[in-house]
Amino acid sequence: MDKKRFVEGRLKKSTSSDVLSFTESVSIDWRLYKYDIKGSIAHATMLAKCQIITDNERDIIVRTLKKIEDEISDGSFEFKTELEDIHMNIESALSERIGDVGKKLHTARSRNDQVALDLRLWMRDQINDISGLLTRLQKALVLSGRDNIDVIIPGFTHLQHAQPLLLPHYLLAYAEMIERDKGRLKDCLKRVNVSPLGACAMTGTTLATDPMVTADLLGFDSVCHNSLDAVSDRDFCVEFVSCLSVISMHLSRICEDWIIWASEEFGFVDIDDSYCTGSSIMPQKKNPDCLELIRGKCSRIYGDLVSLLTLMKGLPLAYNRDMQEDKEPLFNSSDTIKNCLSLLADLVNNTKFRTENINKVTTKGFLDATAFAEYLVQKGVPFRDAHKIIGDIVVACSDLSCSFAELSLERLKDFSHVIEADVFDVLGTENCIKNLKSYGSSAPEFVKKRLMEWENIISSDN
Ligand code: ARG
Repeated sequence: MDKKRFVEGRLKKSTSSDVLSFTESVSIDWRLYKYDIKGSIAHATMLAKCQIITDNERDIIVRTLKKIEDEISDGSFEFKTELEDIHMNIESALSERIGDVGKKLHTARSRNDQVALDLRLWMRDQINDISGLLTRLQKALVLSGRDNIDVIIPGFTHLQHAQPLLLPHYLLAYAEMIERDKGRLKDCLKRVNVSPLGACAMTGTTLATDPMVTADLLGFDSVCHNSLDAVSDRDFCVEFVSCLSVISMHLSRICEDWIIWASEEFGFVDIDDSYCTGSSIMPQKKNPDCLELIRGKCSRIYGDLVSLLTLMKGLPLAYNRDMQEDKEPLFNSSDTIKNCLSLLADLVNNTKFRTENINKVTTKGFLDATAFAEYLVQKGVPFRDAHKIIGDIVVACSDLSCSFAELSLERLKDFSHVIEADVFDVLGTENCIKNLKSYGSSAPEFVKKRLMEWENIISSDN
């Protein structure tokens, strides 16, 4: 066999070394080896079942493929750049070892359906791993919520004091977002878990194969209905990275919150030293670099999504070599999100809330203003009028540097005659929280109930 060209076809000259290094992908796609071998074993099994190869030939192929897999796993397999990609490296090794029997494996198969298959098998595992990591982060959030069950924090809009809320309510907001992230991946899996094998190069085969057999063996839900579609689309890749982009966006927001909360000005969180870094010049520094990097790595994942979308835009049907460029954004986004999720879960588990600092600021910024306006509404004042009255009281209190509750009842009555002594049951952050009633609010009974529901959700979810 010509060492330079495993697949000869009509080409009479060996490929130039520049072309080889430009076109090769094995340096990247070697990571698909387990899936490639799994797919080849299923393919050989199907070929034997359809009597295209003998049972004995199948056994020799399967045995040798497993041997090759072991060698790749232990690092003793020698990859050859001139064999372009992982698919040809494995197939060529097989033929080298078992001759003509090995050459039969590629019957009724093309690298076009093979690579689409490998990617789908790889992606199924990634979805499973990422979902597990999302649950791990949810667990960390729920645990922290449990540890801080009664802590009241200021809620922000526009990064200005808005309304008070329970810290577990804040933490569980992210648990809810992550649950939707898991739902998106689960939905994405439905479209990933369809077998493209059998499409061959683009139109299928004249040989009497049975794609249902390979689909069943590989645990797919169904088989692609159109061979052209099976080999030419990468929409499942775009969808997967789009799911990862949303996850990454959520992570960047929790990171941003906590970066601000770790500042001297806020001092709400104390991230364990083992999850912080120092400065090479300023000895006093304790920087939240992990949070900053998770926030920063979001840009990579968005970049990967844009790369894939751009890669596929305007590509004529069916397979084009451009599509080889899908691997790097896929691997990069999956690796990145897994690292971020795992690190963030650990960081959440190693972060304490500094309630002494939080308590100091919840008395500031009129966090009870909306509850105060709603008190007036309950006394029959139209909301817009109530809003104006409380606005006036805010101005008066700001001038005096005091809170609402620090004004006397007489002084408060100057603003509205409906104000009675019971106003002191609605003012102050604790009263605000206690008096919340609407479903999904930060009311203690709702938050505690949801926390318990979350404990059940995550304990049943691996
Ligand atoms: N390495 C290629 C890829 O990842 C495999 C498919 C090649 N097919 C072809 N007809 N050249 O896309």
